Amino acid sequence: MRKVFNLFGATAMAASLCSGGLAGVARAQDVPPGDAANGKRLYLATCFVCHGRSGQGGAMNGPAPILAKTAMPFDGFKAQLRQPINEMPAYSEAVMSDQQIADVYAFLQTLPGPLPTKDMAIFKD
Ligand code: HEC
Repeated sequence: MRKVFNLFGATAMAASLCSGGLAGVARAQDVPPGDAANGKRLYLATCFVCHGRSGQGGAMNGPAPILAKTAMPFDGFKAQLRQPINEMPAYSEAVMSDQQIADVYAFLQTLPGPLPTKDMAIFKD
């Protein structure tokens, strides 16, 4: 009897891992197409004051994270704009539409991201 339960548990776990994996892939492809040129204009009109002209990050009362080539999924990125987790100002639908957020997201993907540590000059000596 115990063996049956173990087998059932293992199968259920494998199934949930698989569906979780597939859901992850579906989300990754769920980025709406954005206009990077318009995103650049929007970014340089709003976000750059805290996050830096090249998305390199900056400071407000605390650190404003690096946004260049953000690995955040689009849904999470949008959620941070709609309901920021801490001190960042919120951007409602009236101020920035979903399409405009997609444009900013597309622009951020065109920026060079942070250098991998192994490529930093200070670690090469
Ligand atoms: C007044 C300063 C300020 C402005 C303007 C601002 N941010 Fe932020 N942002 C922050 C701070 C500070 C955080 C850290 C989390 C928090 O306070 O909510 C943050 C966090 C984020 C994060 C989460 C990044 C991560 O890796 O966790 C994203 C995405 C983001 N901002 C996007 C934007 C975009 C896009 C704009 C422009 C539409 C923008 N921010 C404008 C200060 C700012």
